[in-house]
Amino acid sequence: MTEVTNSFQETQAVAALLAQRLVGGEFVALIGDLGAGKTTFTQGLVAALGSTARVKSPTFTVMNIYDVPGHSSIRRVVHCDFYRFTKEEELGALELDAYRGSDTVIIAEWPDALPTVEWNPTYIVKIEHAGENSRSISIEDGV
Ligand SMILES: Nc1ncnc2c1ncn2[C@@H]1O[C@H](COP(=O)(O)OP(=O)(O)OP(=O)(O)O)[C@@H](O)[C@H]1O
Ligand SMILES: [Mg+2]
Repeated sequence: MTEVTNSFQETQAVAALLAQRLVGGEFVALIGDLGAGKTTFTQGLVAALGSTARVKSPTFTVMNIYDVPGHSSIRRVVHCDFYRFTKEEELGALELDAYRGSDTVIIAEWPDALPTVEWNPTYIVKIEHAGENSRSISIEDGV
């Protein structure tokens, strides 16, 4: 699926479409340049799953966790940002695998910063600039 959006709200609406397909256990990889809209997309996804939390960029915290108590099968969303990571070993301290589970959705910005890691994403979301407030968003099934 490819959609062109012309505002951040439209990007969040596209994220809500992906949220409808999620049941838990997925890994969503977000690919796109600085300012493409990866965090914006995550805001739409987390809100669509039923959280009222304000989703902030995890660029400095690396990982933020949002509970989605109202959802039928998903209990939490783990939002990661690997922008500052330079080597695979830095992942260890995060213990990301401990968070993987059928009631959890992991959504990660900059997984491509660590090209040697096998993320095995369920969905790959690519966001490209197509103008100041326009973005081209493609959502593909992973492997
Ligand atoms: N169509 C659009 N879709 C998404 N964001 C848009 C759009 N038009 C304008 N924007 C703006 O672009 C910015 C996207 O920033 P955002 O933090 O989501 O990017 P990011 O991909 O997470 O960047 P980073 O790699 O630095 O974390 C926001 O300020 C948002 O309001
Ligand atoms: Mg971001």
